[in-house]
Amino acid sequence: MKNVKPLISTEELGLKPDFRGKVREIFDLGEQLLLVATDRISAYDVVMNEPVPGRGALLTQMTLSWYDHFGDDLHHHLVHADSRELPAPFAAHADRLAHRIMLVHKADRYDIEAVVRGYLAGSGFADYTSTGAVCGHTLPDGMTRCEKLPRPIFTPATKADEGHDENITESQAADIVGAKAFAEIKEKSFFLYESARDYAAQRGVIIADTKFEFGVIDGRLALIDEVLTPDSSRYWDKELYEPGREQDSMDKQILRNYLAGLPWDRNPPPPALDPAVLERVADGYVSIFRRLFPAQVEALQW
Ligand SMILES: Nc1ncnc2c1ncn2[C@@H]1O[C@H](COP(=O)(O)OP(=O)(O)OP(=O)(O)O)[C@@H](O)[C@H]1O
Ligand SMILES: [Mg+2]
Repeated sequence: MKNVKPLISTEELGLKPDFRGKVREIFDLGEQLLLVATDRISAYDVVMNEPVPGRGALLTQMTLSWYDHFGDDLHHHLVHADSRELPAPFAAHADRLAHRIMLVHKADRYDIEAVVRGYLAGSGFADYTSTGAVCGHTLPDGMTRCEKLPRPIFTPATKADEGHDENITESQAADIVGAKAFAEIKEKSFFLYESARDYAAQRGVIIADTKFEFGVIDGRLALIDEVLTPDSSRYWDKELYEPGREQDSMDKQILRNYLAGLPWDRNPPPPALDPAVLERVADGYVSIFRRLFPAQVEALQW
């Protein structure tokens, strides 16, 4: 991604975000939020010291491509994604912010994670092995790790400000957001997941599961946050998929393989990363994006 300059933090630009996630930084502009995706990357929940050049731009462009894919079927938070159209002081940094920003309507957020799973992986598999169920969905006996589910299931989680999100049952989720909103969130989540899953499958990519966030904008349910990126979803290569074992995720596999060869115990501080590996990780993101949205990669000349 030769035409995107790496950005590890907006503090490099002299800006002060109101909120810093592991990857994104958020500026509260009153009615609107400015979301900036940096090039930070985490592995095993530890944020690395070095940026993966262009990763934040890739994540942002993937989100925008999915919004486009859904078109009018989707009410979402985006106002625009043009760094040249930002107010001061951001406009002065239009070049550095290019491709990696979204200006969005601030939503009244529903405090659940709307997770849809098509395959039994991660915390879903862990819950299944200990209880035979995931978020209250009893599943057939004898399912193996990463096996495809008979049909997708909705497995909400709490949105914890600190620490890990916790899986909850559908009725607990309905208590948090209200029965009417819950029904709408669930229906929309299935629709979005199934549509994306089928689109990706034709391009050799399995979207094993994904997490959406919703809120209310102008009195209507709206999709917020990043959408169907490798950070919010499990992307697997269909060619390499084999149930019964852990699958390599298409995005972090190169980094994890490299880290496995270092004497590092997966606790902070992270080890120093070889720049050549960071380039390869960056190329990996471009190739995922190219598989899903080749025309956009062409248009951006990545
Ligand atoms: N339109 C919106 N209105 C209100 N809140 C939003 C909107 N879009 C995204 N958000 C919130 O902004 C935050 C995005 O932050 P980010 O994803 O960087 O951090 P995080 O989810 O807390 O941590 P992580 O780094 O683990 O993803 C989330 O809390 C999300 O719910
Ligand atoms: Mg997040």
